[in-house]
Amino acid sequence: METTVVCKNLKLTYGSGATAVEALRGIDLEVKRGELLMLMGPSGSGKTTLVSVIAGILTQTEGECLVSNLDLNHMPDKEKTLYRGSHIGFVFQKFNLIPMLTTAENVSVPLLILGQDRKTALEKAKKLLFEVGIPEKADVSPAELSGGQQQRVAIARALIHNPDIIVCDEPTSFLDHGAGMKVMDLLRSIIDKTGKTLIVVSHDPRIQQYAHRIVRMDDGKIVG
Ligand SMILES: Nc1ncnc2c1ncn2[C@@H]1O[C@H](COP(=O)(O)OP(=O)(O)O)[C@@H](O)[C@H]1O
Ligand SMILES: [Mg+2]
Repeated sequence: METTVVCKNLKLTYGSGATAVEALRGIDLEVKRGELLMLMGPSGSGKTTLVSVIAGILTQTEGECLVSNLDLNHMPDKEKTLYRGSHIGFVFQKFNLIPMLTTAENVSVPLLILGQDRKTALEKAKKLLFEVGIPEKADVSPAELSGGQQQRVAIARALIHNPDIIVCDEPTSFLDHGAGMKVMDLLRSIIDKTGKTLIVVSHDPRIQQYAHRIVRMDDGKIVG
């Protein structure tokens, strides 16, 4: 199977001198296309840092990280932003929806950033809201939605530009058990249907059943 992500001896240190924190201490990891990889480990073990490097949000201190055979961290900033905007979807723990916009407008944002016209972007957003199971919520404010529904909006937003790889950082940690399971069920079905690559960070053992593979981190390293 094709490999989407390759990390080799990846290291990242925050700060320098006496206050330096070695968040990643030599990560070797490969993720295949079509794989739902779950990254688990205690708080502070480096999970968010690792997925941020993979998503091109942070730059490593040492080592290599290739995404779809491209070395994001040696790309000029502008090219990297463009690449990230068109190939990577990111779902955050706290949904990060814009309260002044409707649900469909929130979902359309990545396309607007890529320069698509508003009408086409909104039509596509509504189609995705249908796919994530909340078509009737297109014109309401995210504030009127439950946590599970808000996370569905965030997933639709992460998918709208048809990324190859989606990274979800603790997508269920603000959801109750039932809503969390439904969100994982949705993510797994998207992966099985589309063959995209999904990395889910979590320390919730209840959602392990949705993963194709589980990788555990501790203290900046992969431990199994
Ligand atoms: N911006 C930052 N500046 C300094 N240290 C940080 C920063 N972000 C994270 N860290 C530290 O890096 C380590 C790994 O953090 P993180 O990747 O957020 O772990 P996790 O997501 O597994 O909880 C922790 O010790 C954390 O305190
Ligand atoms: Mg984290």
